[in-house]
Amino acid sequence: MSSNDISSVLTENRRFDPPADFVSQARIKAADLEALVKQAEQDYEGFWADQAKQHVNWKQPFSTILNADNAPHYRWFEDGVLNVSYNCIDRHLAEKADKTAIIFEGEQGDVTHISYQQLHDEVCRLANGLKSLGIGKGDRVIIYMPMTAQAVIAMQACARIGAIHSVVFGGFSAESLRDRIADASATALITADGGNRGAKVVELKSAADKALEERCDSIEHVVVLKRTGHDINIQAGRDVWWHDLVAGQASECEPEWVEAEHPLFLLYTSGSTGKPKGIQHSSAGYLLSAIQTNLWVFDLKDDDIFWCTADVGWITGHTYVAYGPLAVGATTVIYEGAPVVPDAGRFWKICQDHKVTVFYTAPTAIRALMKFGDDYPSSYDLSSIRLLGTVGEPINPEAWMWYHRVIGRERCPIVDTWWQTETGANMITPLPGVTSTKPGSCTLALPGIAADVVNEAGESITEANKGGYLVIKKPWPSMLRTIWGDDQRYVDTYFPKFDGKYYLCGDSARKDEDGYYWIMGRIDDVVNISGHRLGTMEVESSLVAHDKVVEAAVVSRPHDVKGEAIVAFVICKDERPVGADAETMVQELRNWVGEQIGAIAKPDDIRFAEGLPKTRSGKIMRRLLRTIARGEEITSDTSTLENEQVVLQLQGKA
Ligand code: WT7
Repeated sequence: MSSNDISSVLTENRRFDPPADFVSQARIKAADLEALVKQAEQDYEGFWADQAKQHVNWKQPFSTILNADNAPHYRWFEDGVLNVSYNCIDRHLAEKADKTAIIFEGEQGDVTHISYQQLHDEVCRLANGLKSLGIGKGDRVIIYMPMTAQAVIAMQACARIGAIHSVVFGGFSAESLRDRIADASATALITADGGNRGAKVVELKSAADKALEERCDSIEHVVVLKRTGHDINIQAGRDVWWHDLVAGQASECEPEWVEAEHPLFLLYTSGSTGKPKGIQHSSAGYLLSAIQTNLWVFDLKDDDIFWCTADVGWITGHTYVAYGPLAVGATTVIYEGAPVVPDAGRFWKICQDHKVTVFYTAPTAIRALMKFGDDYPSSYDLSSIRLLGTVGEPINPEAWMWYHRVIGRERCPIVDTWWQTETGANMITPLPGVTSTKPGSCTLALPGIAADVVNEAGESITEANKGGYLVIKKPWPSMLRTIWGDDQRYVDTYFPKFDGKYYLCGDSARKDEDGYYWIMGRIDDVVNISGHRLGTMEVESSLVAHDKVVEAAVVSRPHDVKGEAIVAFVICKDERPVGADAETMVQELRNWVGEQIGAIAKPDDIRFAEGLPKTRSGKIMRRLLRTIARGEEITSDTSTLENEQVVLQLQGKA
C-alpha cells in the first residue's frame, strides 16, 4: 500500500497481515497458537499449570492450580513458593550477568547502562537498607519517584524482601499521595529530591513533605534519592538519603521466599466513586502473565531492546518496564522526561540511539507527535524497530495508519493491546506473528483468557457488531485479588451481575464478523484522559471541596489528542460569576483540582450556572450535560426542567 492510498481510504475494512519475515522468526506461530487455544479450551487449569511450570522459577513447586472456594476471591498455585525479584534478576546471572538489563536516559541526555549483575547488586543493597530500617514482608512501601532506573530498583527491592509496594505516579499531587499512604497504612515512602520533566523540576520531596503533614502517621521512614541535587528539606530521624542508606550494605540479599498469593503490589486506580481503589496483585499469577505476554505479544528475544514509554506509576510501567522485560531477560529502556524536550523528535532519537527493537506507547502520545508532522521521525534511523504496540484507549484509525507508515515504515506489526490495571497483563491483543490486524481493533483474546461480549442477561451476543458488556468468564492468574482493605467493594465493583460469575471490566465492546473485538467505551462514570483513567466523581468531589462551590457535575467530550477532555459544570455559593470574574474563578478551580488530584485532572472547560439540569427525582441529567459539553444540538425534551434558563447558561448562551 503506498502512503498516498492510506489517507484516502476511509473505511475500516483494512486488514494487515503479519509480514512474512516477522512470521518466520516469531515465538508464537499459527500452529503454536492453535495448539495453545485448543489446550486452554479442553483443559483450562492444565493449560495454566503448564504455563506456570514453564515460565516461573519456583522455590517450591505448587500442587494445586486454582482454588475457587472463596470465589470471586480466587487463588492460583497457592502452595507454590517463589520470589519475583529472583525471577526477574537472579535467574539470569549464570548466563547473562553482563548483559544490559536497563538503559536509562535522563531528560537532560545523561545515559546509564545497568547490567543484570549491577541491577542485582543495587537491588540487594537497597533491600538490605530497607531491612535495616525494619521493613519486611507484608509492609507497605509507597514509591513516589521520577521515571528513573532507581524507581525500578525500588520496586524490585520491595519484591525481594516481600514488602508490598504501591507506586504513586509522580504527577499526582500531595493530596493524592496522602490518600494513598493513608489507605495503604504504609510505613515507608521512597521518593526523590525531584525529577526532570518538560525542562522543569518536579518537586517530589516538597509534595511528599506536604502529604505527610496529615493522616500519615503510619510512615516511619522516608528514603530520598538525590536526582536533581536542588535544595530540599531533610527531616532528621524520619528522612534518609538513599545513598547513605545503601552505603556499606552487602550486594547479596537472600530473597524472601513468599507464597504464590502473597501481594506483590497495590496500584491505585479510579473507579466510579470519589475514592481510588487499591488494586491488589499477587506474586505468582501476576508474574506468570507478565512473562507470558512479554514473550508472546512483544515477541521478546535475547537481543531485544524494549521501550515501553509508560511511567512506573501506571500498570503498564509495572508489567512492561519493571517486571516483564526483566523476567524474560531482555533489555528495558527507561526515559525520564517529556516527549517534546528538546523537540518532538526526542522519542525517535531515543529509538535510534539505543537501537530500540520493540516500541510500546499510548495513542495519545502518537496523536500528539503526529501533529508535529513526518519530518521528525523521518530524520531518524528507525530501522531497528521491528514491532510496535499501543495501549490505553481505542486508537483511531488515522493515528494507527500514521504509526504504521511513519514509525513502522510499513514493515512492523502493531499490537493494540486491551487490558486494565485490574487484569495485570494484556488480555485481548493480536499476536504479532499470527493475527491479521485491523486499525482500531484489539483483535482477539489470548489463549486462556475467556473474554466475551454479553447482554444484560449474561448471554453471549452472537450477532456481529452488536454492542454489550465486555466480560471475562473465567478467573485468570494475573487478575486482581481484591481492593486493598475492601473485599466487599471488590465483589460489588467487578462481580455485580451475572450471578457473580463473570468479571465485569467496565467497558462495552462489540465483536465484528471475524470475532474481532472493538472497544466502545466505559459503561461507568470513568473517563479516559490521555490513556489515564479518571473517575468523574473524583473531579466532582474535589470541586465541591472548594469553599466557593456548592455543586459540580463532570462529564467528558472527545479531544483530538487526549482522547477525552474534562468539562465541569459548577454552581457557586455566591452569585454566578460572569465575564472576568468567571475567568478568574476558572483559573482558581483548575489550580485547585491540580492540587487536589494532579495536573491530568484539571478540567479543560468549566462553566457556571445557577443550577444543574435534574430529573424529577433529583438525578443530574448527565446525558444532557454530555450533549452540552460536546456543543451538540439538544434533542431531548427539556421542558420538564425546573429552570430551563440553566441549560442556556451551561451552553454559554445566557
Ligand atoms: C481501561 C483501563 C492497561 C494499561 C493502560 C490503562 C481502556 C486500555 C485499551 C485498548 C481500547 C483500552 C479501557 C480499559 N483501554 N487499553 N487497547 N483499546 N481501550 O489502564 O487505567 O487500568 O485503564 O483503558 O477502557 O478498561 P487503566
